[in-house]
Amino acid sequence: MRQLLISNICSPMLGTGTGGGVPMRPRTLAERQAALDALRRELAARGLAGWEDGLYHYRPSSHMAERRARGGVLDDFTAAPLCVVLSSIFWREAWKYRARAYRYVNHDLGHAMMAVQYAAGAMGWPSLVRGIFPDAAWHSRLHLAADEQVMLLIELWPPAGPRAPQPPEWTPGEPNRLSAEVVEYPLIEQIHQATLASEASPAFSQARVERWPHGDYARLARQRRSALDFLPEGRVLPQPAFPAMLELLAAPLPTDWGERYVAPWIFVHRVEGVEPGLYRAEGTGLALVRRGDQRGAAAALSLGQELAGNSCFTVSFVADVGRACARFGPRGYRFVHHEAGALGQRLYLAAEAFGFRGTGIGAFYDDHVHQWLGLETAGPWQVVYHFAVGDPVPDPRLAG
Ligand SMILES: Cc1cc2nc3c(=O)[nH]c(=O)nc-3n(C[C@H](O)[C@H](O)[C@H](O)COP(=O)(O)O)c2cc1C
Repeated sequence: MRQLLISNICSPMLGTGTGGGVPMRPRTLAERQAALDALRRELAARGLAGWEDGLYHYRPSSHMAERRARGGVLDDFTAAPLCVVLSSIFWREAWKYRARAYRYVNHDLGHAMMAVQYAAGAMGWPSLVRGIFPDAAWHSRLHLAADEQVMLLIELWPPAGPRAPQPPEWTPGEPNRLSAEVVEYPLIEQIHQATLASEASPAFSQARVERWPHGDYARLARQRRSALDFLPEGRVLPQPAFPAMLELLAAPLPTDWGERYVAPWIFVHRVEGVEPGLYRAEGTGLALVRRGDQRGAAAALSLGQELAGNSCFTVSFVADVGRACARFGPRGYRFVHHEAGALGQRLYLAAEAFGFRGTGIGAFYDDHVHQWLGLETAGPWQVVYHFAVGDPVPDPRLAG
């Protein structure tokens, strides 16, 4: 449980200082614990050695599980001995990103789900991520506050013993009120409401052990950080790092929406054995789209952030939003962002494993990306996330 939770809070968080409204890039584990994260985690445990059956809220600031209820809170909702519920409080991210925060929240969830699945996989536990569930029923069963939304369920199968069914017994208490003022974000509300209306059935229901393939997962998860920038004349990304990353981008994800909807388009700047250019990943291979130096284009398209041009490569994750929404209704919009976030998490870890570093990039000019890639502006394929991998500049915050 300790490993599971530590590696989860080591997934990137777009935090706010505890003072409220103070932007920060949490640096140390202690800072991450203190940050006011939009993402929240509840655990429902049953039949686990050393854990009384019940529902727990994970409190990062003290690295504690607070028991909210005893007994089988989710007995009729899931058969898994351990269920991690990822929920979100949108305004905690919206103060910074406005309506676009809905996308960041869904990326963050993708990063976090991947972190939990690899942590579980390192212990040999099978897992399955569920994005399709009756939202209102889960919300009321978990007794969540009105501004907290259930977003993803991660079912885990650690070794567990038999147990007698036991009705839930709730610990009394009220959630803390962090702010006297409520700022409305109507667009986020509308988008979220639309995603609730899903009649779709799951495409996949098989839990799987998701093992991290490149080195000690627990160490990499703790070590992972975002690069502030990359050295423009830095190291070339060597073989076999790049093919290993392509393989991770192509590998399936154990989620109940099943299929993959996101295609990586890659601006290659400095990769051993690959000519600079824009490529579309096809499985573990590459199809050349534009020949030549893409550094200026990648940076300009990423809201002028130079790190996207200084990297060894930068990915534009482009999703078939049309197909995802045809299959799952508007809820598909969430899934493509989760998927891109999960692939970003794989790149973060792979970059660390090969001695480089990654940075997620949520800020980019959507329409210009579509134009540069030769996609229709309002077509079924939409850019959902950018991610850069390169040779990082020294980070003074991490010194000492
Ligand atoms: C969804 C997402 C979008 C991000 N967008 C940007 C970005 O546009 N520019 C940037 O410099 N960093 C970006 N980051 C990196 C975050 O600033 C960083 O993850 C956060 O501050 C926490 O730091 P850490 O990753 O070192 O733990 C993004 C991260 C995520 C997960």
